[in-house]
Amino acid sequence: MEPIERWDYAGESLDETGLPAAPWPIVREWVDQARARNREQGDVPEPDAIAVATVDADARPSLRVVLMRYLEPAGPGFFTNLESRKAVELQSNPHIAATLTWQSMFRAIRFEGTARQLDRDTVERYFGSRPWASRVGAWASAQSRPLASRAELEQRVAELEQRWPDTGREDDVPLPDGWGGFVVDCERVELWAGRRSRLHDRLVYRRTGDGDLSTDGVWAIERLQP
Ligand SMILES: Cc1cc2nc3c(=O)[nH]c(=O)nc-3n(C[C@H](O)[C@H](O)[C@H](O)COP(=O)(O)O)c2cc1C
Repeated sequence: MEPIERWDYAGESLDETGLPAAPWPIVREWVDQARARNREQGDVPEPDAIAVATVDADARPSLRVVLMRYLEPAGPGFFTNLESRKAVELQSNPHIAATLTWQSMFRAIRFEGTARQLDRDTVERYFGSRPWASRVGAWASAQSRPLASRAELEQRVAELEQRWPDTGREDDVPLPDGWGGFVVDCERVELWAGRRSRLHDRLVYRRTGDGDLSTDGVWAIERLQP
């Protein structure tokens, strides 16, 4: 057998005392702490990287990493091409799972629920905040479709750069119709804290009624075995 390097996870504990009735405050706190730690210590690269699983019409799963560029009590969200594989799968089956993992902090959050498309205003605002080259790139890439060569993509980018030159304004590149975002309307949120000897803490919030991440009185909390 290959030699294995093993680490013990010495994360902070997570317990039921003082836990909020709804998951929002703790989700917000953990995300803020991961971002702050990356700014200060640099050991949480891309703290917003979130693995997103979807399933196709035959219930086969697929998984990819995106950036969580939306986080509100409504749920975590991301932006993407609306004709990409993930978006097409979500349009026929909105069930979704998404996981944030911060390995250096021995923490993870798992979200499960259904995906809903973000409204156009929210998408427009986010699109305008992206760097010019990324906005041009959104037009250039028919994400998830085959591409004959890298050169073809670069040629398309060069043409689009001429069409919409960088003026320093956030509306110099229009929002493509086929670009948007999704938010996860969560039914289950698991907070995972890695502890010594693999005896981790796992606390699950399960939604039992209507509401979002911040609605008190609709979330049941349960501890799971590690
Ligand atoms: C760190 C990281 C961040 C990414 N962020 C995004 C993103 O915000 N949106 C996106 O559509 N793809 C993003 N991608 C690319 C996706 O992983 C994936 O390749 C792409 O969305 C196509 O996936 P699909 O064919 O399953 O739809 C990112 C990849 C990595 C590794």
